[in-house]
Amino acid sequence: MSFRTYIERLAVRQDLVTIIEPISTRYEMAAVLKEMEPRPVLFENPHETQFRVLGNLFPNKATFADYFNLSVEEIIPTLSAAIEQRSPPRVVPEAPCQEVVVTNPNLDQLPILRHFENDGGRYITSGVVVAKHPQYGQNLDFHRCMQFSNNEMAMRVVEGRNFDTFLKDLKMVDIAVCVGCAPNVLAAAATSVEIGIDELEIANTLEPLDVVQAKSVDLYVPAEAEFVLEGTVYFKRKHAEGPFVDLTETQDVIRQEPVFEVKTITHRWDAIWQALLPGGMEHKLLMGMPREPTIFNSVNQVVRCLDVNVSPGGSSWLHAIVQIEKQDPEDGMKAIQAAFEGHSSCKHVFVVDKDIDIYNPLEVEWALATRFQGNVDMVVKDRERGSSLDPSGELGTHQTTKIGFDLTKPLGEESKPFEKVEYPQIDLGKFMKEIDEGTI
Ligand SMILES: Cc1cc2nc3c(=O)[nH]c(=O)nc-3n(C[C@H](O)[C@H](O)[C@H](O)COP(=O)(O)O)c2cc1C
Repeated sequence: MSFRTYIERLAVRQDLVTIIEPISTRYEMAAVLKEMEPRPVLFENPHETQFRVLGNLFPNKATFADYFNLSVEEIIPTLSAAIEQRSPPRVVPEAPCQEVVVTNPNLDQLPILRHFENDGGRYITSGVVVAKHPQYGQNLDFHRCMQFSNNEMAMRVVEGRNFDTFLKDLKMVDIAVCVGCAPNVLAAAATSVEIGIDELEIANTLEPLDVVQAKSVDLYVPAEAEFVLEGTVYFKRKHAEGPFVDLTETQDVIRQEPVFEVKTITHRWDAIWQALLPGGMEHKLLMGMPREPTIFNSVNQVVRCLDVNVSPGGSSWLHAIVQIEKQDPEDGMKAIQAAFEGHSSCKHVFVVDKDIDIYNPLEVEWALATRFQGNVDMVVKDRERGSSLDPSGELGTHQTTKIGFDLTKPLGEESKPFEKVEYPQIDLGKFMKEIDEGTI
């Protein structure tokens, strides 16, 4: 399946909202996407461009699982297996993503959205960046790009990303920014693995993938992508990037970021542009979900991990709720430490027992209220490197204080007082003639 065939599946199932009315990429589309979340929306007639635009394609785990014909519970084991059992994609000589080749690109012709009044410019937010390093090979990740001329963009590169290492080493790096990729590529690009692992191999294990040689840079790109923007990023050439609304739905600051010069654009003849709403459900899913297998694998090294939720309440980035099968009094503390190792940007970790539903915030709060004492069940890690996305972190250094909460109950007999009682079961029909769902 591809981005394209999944859209067709949604249309057949009438899960796709199609907007025929002419609409602008300037604020209007972002507003509609926000209003319509989690429903996927296809804009047939953008004012500014010939290309159709689609957004909200994978707003939650259920849609992601649906694409792969998985259950939601199977997502973490599937993603972690794909990291372990990587496989090289097939190279094809020709590809749909190169049906049209533009050698004097003008970014104004693309449906690059302007999302918020205060944004610094039009932004590509769904772009998967492919880059290569002579020592580490190919790397895939996401970097937002702000347009500032008809062939130049400022690219946000967070300190410490693999691509940041490439740039610092090589000073100028040829890249391809792929828009309109299937979820195997999206999930792989959003997965943080050690440098030297080509995430295209993770994508190929998630779902067989064809790649093609890019037209003007020495890279392999997903053959089924809708658009590919090829060019060079210069470490020393900087341009102001921002303001931009990021994952936490707060305004991120303006920074000087490397310039991406676009030299060639290739696309399908009837290409569809993928819009990804900043701070929206899809942004949160793609940020948080790929962190769950890395936390799961890390925790499972030291205690029996059952499930992980990088929860929406923490902007799907800053909070992790970890469910364990506690077998040793120290297991809660060990799990906290391992969870922070599995996701270095995590700020608060909550470890709970298997009787707590980690997808129900009320149950997690209940465990905090009834199974936690701050003087014995808490780990405070002061002045640690945190996430640049946390507005409360120290500006520039991103120093933050990380806290782990062991919300597990004691083992054995001592656990009795912590058990939630089961209310007696009853057949209401015995006492009420008509049980009308709506009335009680
Ligand atoms: C939708 C989305 C947008 C992102 N935007 C950026 C960005 O603008 N800059 C950045 O450095 N990381 C961004 N990230 C995070 C990285 O792309 C992601 O953490 C990636 O897995 C890092 O890969 P690496 O460990 O190979 O460096 C974004 C992630 C997602 C899912």
